[in-house]
Amino acid sequence: MNTILVTGGLGFIGSHTVVELQNAGYHVIIIDNLYNSKMEVLDQITEITGIKPSYFNIDLRNKEEVHAFFNSHQIDGIIHFAASKAVGESVKNPLLYYENNIATLVYILQEMKTHQIPNFIFSSSCTVYGQADELPITENAPVKPAESPYGNTKQIGEEIIEQSCHATHLKAIALRYFNPIGAHESVKIGELPLGVPQNLIPYITQTAAGIRKELSVFGDDYPTPDGTAIRDYIHVVDLAKAHIAALERLIKGINKKEFEVFNIGTGKGSSVLEVIKTFEKINQLHLSYKIVERRKGDITAAYADTTLANKELGWKAEKTLEEALHSAWRWQQKQ
Ligand code: UFG
Repeated sequence: MNTILVTGGLGFIGSHTVVELQNAGYHVIIIDNLYNSKMEVLDQITEITGIKPSYFNIDLRNKEEVHAFFNSHQIDGIIHFAASKAVGESVKNPLLYYENNIATLVYILQEMKTHQIPNFIFSSSCTVYGQADELPITENAPVKPAESPYGNTKQIGEEIIEQSCHATHLKAIALRYFNPIGAHESVKIGELPLGVPQNLIPYITQTAAGIRKELSVFGDDYPTPDGTAIRDYIHVVDLAKAHIAALERLIKGINKKEFEVFNIGTGKGSSVLEVIKTFEKINQLHLSYKIVERRKGDITAAYADTTLANKELGWKAEKTLEEALHSAWRWQQKQ
C-alpha cells in the first residue's frame, strides 16, 4: 500500500482529497497546522471512510520539525495543499505569503530530494493565466504577470518544482484549479471560511443563512452577456478525484514529462448572476443582493479547456453546478 503525505489535509480541498485517497486504498498521513482548518475534520474524515488517517500538527515553516518528520516516515508521494490563499491578505502581507507558500515548498522539495521521494502533486491555480486572451483556457495559454503576491507564489511555485524536476529524480504534476465549490455528499466535510468570506459561494450561503445581510455583486459592466464576471465552478469532490488521477499517473510512470500541468475545471463558464439564479432555484429560496463596483484585480472571464486532463488523466468533472450549489447550501445549513 502506498503511503501518501497530504499537507493541508484538514483544509477544504485537502480533506475531500484524503477521503478519495482512502477510498482508493492509499494509506494517508496528514500534516496540518490548523491555521485555516479544524481538528474535528479528522473525525469527520474517519466517519466517512471508516479509516482514521495519521495526523501530525506540524508547521511546515519549522524546518527542523519537517526534517524530523521525514526522517521517521516512509513516504511514496506527496500532495501539497498547505498554503495561504487569500488574495487581499497577500497584498497586505506579501512576506507572509512567500514564507508560507514558497519557503515551505522548498523545505518539502529538499526532503523529497534527500529521501528520494518521487511523486509530487502541487495545488496551482488558474490565476497564473490572468485574463487569458482566448477562452476556454488551454494549458498553452501564456502565464501572465501575477496580480497579487498570492498569484505570484503559484507561478514561482510551479517554476521551482519544474526546475527541481529537471535537476533531480522528482516527478511532479501541477493542477491549475479553477473555482472549487460545494461539499461532500455526506455533509460531514466542506468549506470553513475564516471570518467574512471573500469567495462568492460561501458569501452566498452565509447570506441565505442570514449571517450576512446582503450579497454584493462586484460589477455588472463586464463585457459578458449579463455584465457579470464569468468563472468555472468545479465541485470539490470532482477536484479531489483529479488528484488521485494525477497521483496514479506518476506512480504508474505513464507521465509524458517529469513536470506536467493540467487545468482542472468543468469547462463551463457561469456568470455571477447565473450562479445566484441557480442557487435560488435549486434551493428554492430568495437571495438579497445588490450590484456594486467591480472588485480590484478581478478578471472578466475564466473557464477551462479540460481536453488535456480528460485525455491524459482519464478524468472528467462529473457533477453539475446545481449539485455543487445544493451541497454548499446543505453544508451551510449544518453549520
Ligand atoms: N464575487 C462577487 N461577490 C462576492 C464575492 C465574489 O460578486 O462577494 C464575484 C467575483 O467578483 C468573481 C466571482 O464572484 O467574479 C468569483 O469570485 P471568487 O472570489 O469566489 O473567486 P475568484 O475567481 O475571484 O478567485 C479565485 C480563487 C483565488 C484565485 C483567483 C484568481 O478563489 O484563489 O481565483 O483568479 F486567486
